[in-house]
Amino acid sequence: MAVGVFDSGLGGLTVLDAVSRRLPDVPFVYFGDNARAPYGVRDPDDVYRLTCDATEQMWDAGCDLVILACNTASAAALRRMQESWIPENKRVLGVFVPLIEALTERQWGDNSPPRQVAVQDVALFATPATVRSRAFQRELAFRAIGVDVEAQACGGLVDAIEDGDMILAEALVRSHVDALRRKMPEPEAAILGCTHYPLMQKVFQDALGDNVKVFSQANLVADSLADYLMRHPQMVGTGTESRFLTTGDPDRVSRHATQFLRRQIVFEAAQTRHPDMRK
Ligand code: DGL
Repeated sequence: MAVGVFDSGLGGLTVLDAVSRRLPDVPFVYFGDNARAPYGVRDPDDVYRLTCDATEQMWDAGCDLVILACNTASAAALRRMQESWIPENKRVLGVFVPLIEALTERQWGDNSPPRQVAVQDVALFATPATVRSRAFQRELAFRAIGVDVEAQACGGLVDAIEDGDMILAEALVRSHVDALRRKMPEPEAAILGCTHYPLMQKVFQDALGDNVKVFSQANLVADSLADYLMRHPQMVGTGTESRFLTTGDPDRVSRHATQFLRRQIVFEAAQTRHPDMRK
């Protein structure tokens, strides 16, 4: 039994941490495509083929269910994967919907028509590819009316976090919050729409101020996965051990992951099925 958790790099560890606390008996296979991060500056076709490649490797590792703990992949690739690529006995889920359900005060799977919700001015911080896709606004429009979303593409932030350069990461968060405020001076809520960003959550909160409610995905995804597995227990797959796979340098990635999660994480090298895609 194992569930796959995928990200372009280290950000999905924020989700992995929450799901493994919530479901301590479920083994998880984490796959970080660190050699090819960031995805947020790639075009949708590129994100699609890289995400499919990683997903296949998690199937090989015994996962029948894969969580795309990456908003960029969820925004740019998930719908296309679900429409034409995923075999019948496998499932791939994204991280957008639990967050939007929380923002719009909906229970899981409440598909009633869009309605007025408490928040009106929402700041979205995400990668350039996620912002360009407008996937967040599309999902929101299914559920809520009258919400004004101002999106800020946080160029450079994923690279700084992947490099472990937290001083640069902090400076970038503050400058992206300033840029957002020039467009929307008083947001009521802010969405951290990239799974790397919760690693900087305190800085976002500090820069935004206490009046802004900051939504991030990890715990929301954990609750929704627990609910999903209760309804679909057969999707836990055949793998039996938790593993951490990376396309990057395992020593370097393990060091950064251990620093972020404050517990020892040991990555092993992933074998890509398509060696020509290692770029
Ligand atoms: N953690 C990924 C996300 O949630 C980062 C994307 C990237 O590699 O730029 O979007």
